[in-house]
Amino acid sequence: MTQPHVFTVTLNSDNLHHGHLILVNRQYPIRWQTDDGILLNRMRLIDGAHNNMMLENTAAKMFAKLLKACNAEHTIVPVSGFRSKAEQKDIYDQSLLENGQVFTSQYVARPNESEHQTGLAIDVGEKKGEIDFICPSFPDHGVCRMFRQRASQYGFIKRYDKGKEQLTGISDEPWHFRYVGYPHAVLMEKLQLCLEEYIEYVKNYEFHQEHLLVDDDSIEIYYVKAIDTVTHIPVVAGESYEISGNNVDGFIITVFHQEACNERG
Ligand code: DAL
Ligand code: ZN
Repeated sequence: MTQPHVFTVTLNSDNLHHGHLILVNRQYPIRWQTDDGILLNRMRLIDGAHNNMMLENTAAKMFAKLLKACNAEHTIVPVSGFRSKAEQKDIYDQSLLENGQVFTSQYVARPNESEHQTGLAIDVGEKKGEIDFICPSFPDHGVCRMFRQRASQYGFIKRYDKGKEQLTGISDEPWHFRYVGYPHAVLMEKLQLCLEEYIEYVKNYEFHQEHLLVDDDSIEIYYVKAIDTVTHIPVVAGESYEISGNNVDGFIITVFHQEACNERG
């Protein structure tokens, strides 16, 4: 008997709001019922960071690898990782008082509209004198440039770019990196798509249509629209797979036909 090539994973609608590829912005806020992401995601302390700074488990591991690859453990500082809703509210309120409405809306997301509450976002700064908490310096040269250039290989994107402000609602933030996972980060960089655009782009590759194939067809990506309370997701058999909600209307499935045998593994 031949092995089935597709199997089904059944997910309820809560899953739409979880995973490495969730879009979180003004239009699509965090939809968890509880205030505290720690209860929902597995979190991990960031290596070498102060103040018990945490990130989502995989994001934390990949961040450590990225820093190591850049030999930047002592020159790039994690400034802010996971934040609770209460922390995000404090930062927002404080910034309103100190910096005013215009600056705050450009650089600080409102509570429940911040990726920091997912544990998938990290602000980094160049280790040099006093570090600004909201806008840390992260120049486009030296070790910071190397970090930015290598980030996508480790699943991180520079989330808020110049020219995309209308889509993201946030100004250029060279210091804010978001974990979306490999190969999504590499694709987004190559296609110059911000996460808002990438979520739409992947919808062109529905399960019953052509799939998005990368790395010599060893990775397959497709989209399945969420249906009511329960969605039956067809999963192409491979070595491993990941399913992420998009926090909008469906799921993104990534099938790995060969395990990564490089730094990303
Ligand atoms: N600085 C980003 C937009 C945040 O506050 O989540
Ligand atoms: Zn940030």
